[in-house]
Amino acid sequence: MRAVVVERPGGPDALVLVDVPEPVPASDELLVEVEAVGVNPVDLGNVTDPSWAGVRAPYVVGYELAGRAADSGEPVWALVPVQGTTNGALAERVAIRREYVAPRPPELDPIVAAALPMAGCTALQVLQRMPLVAGSWVLIHGAAGGVGHLLVQMARGVGLHVAAAGRVEDRARLTELGVEVWVDRSVPDPAAAAVSALGHELDAVVDLVGGRLAPSLPHVRVGGHAATIVDLTGDLDLAIDRNIDLHGVLVRPGRDQLYELAAEVAAGVRPHVAETYSLERTADAHRRLAAGRVGGKLVITL
Ligand SMILES: NC(=O)c1ccc[n+]([C@@H]2O[C@H](COP(=O)([O-])OP(=O)(O)OC[C@H]3O[C@@H](n4cnc5c(N)ncnc54)[C@H](OP(=O)(O)O)[C@@H]3O)[C@@H](O)[C@H]2O)c1
Repeated sequence: MRAVVVERPGGPDALVLVDVPEPVPASDELLVEVEAVGVNPVDLGNVTDPSWAGVRAPYVVGYELAGRAADSGEPVWALVPVQGTTNGALAERVAIRREYVAPRPPELDPIVAAALPMAGCTALQVLQRMPLVAGSWVLIHGAAGGVGHLLVQMARGVGLHVAAAGRVEDRARLTELGVEVWVDRSVPDPAAAAVSALGHELDAVVDLVGGRLAPSLPHVRVGGHAATIVDLTGDLDLAIDRNIDLHGVLVRPGRDQLYELAAEVAAGVRPHVAETYSLERTADAHRRLAAGRVGGKLVITL
């Protein structure tokens, strides 16, 4: 069968489509015929340097997929751990620990389904970590991206008000998703701009970009909340002075998480699939994501 293997870490050219032996599932694994695979920033990082993931070449990246159980034909989706995975999803068939696979919502085609597990579970877990009540105001940095556009929808779904810092080109789309206050991300202090548009402090801030948490803390209310999925950098002392709780979130895979994601889908949450690529064009998909301005998700189809 065919798989996109990284034999020598490097840029997108390190992704090589080759024939590999068929996977043989262990007793706790399900053999899945892969139909579509979502592309994520962590894939790019792991192609260049797999040390954080704790793997060595050769390895296959791709951590979210939609496919069919090889034995029953049942439509499934999966999110596998980034750390320690050498047999990622960019292959015609993959043996996956059953704890990471679940039936996928029947209303989703494979391309849309493959765009959801990583970004959707991350968004959900960010939301779950912050004890916010309906009516609270949250500012999201990076709201137009893969995680961000889902987080906006989920936050609105639980009655939060959303402010977003983004590009001018993304304003209309963010507003359509439910963002009530948009601020230009290129201003020196987007959180200050959000507060001045709102007329009051923020209850929470979420950084999906990196480096945006510390500068936002002066604009979060005393006793408010702050979460990041990228880094905890800068002067965070204000979190002490203002009793703001800080959450570093690393997405946790698991069948229970996929069921919760399915409930979000049932409630109407959908990803925007900006572009699809064949398995042969995986390197182009990686180049496209690295170039930025995707405004949603890229998906590889098999
Ligand atoms: N901790 C975890 O479990 C976890 C899980 C998933 C993702 N992540 C990480 O979280 C980050 C976001 O993931 P993603 O899938 O949403 O990526 P993405 O689809 O590339 O989205 C990133 C968003 O941030 C925006 N952005 C980039 N540079 C910016 C800047 N200087 N100022 C403001 N906004 C900026 C991008 O806009 P443009 O592209 O238009 O510039 C885009 O809208 C990545 O670093 C990823 O590795 C972590």
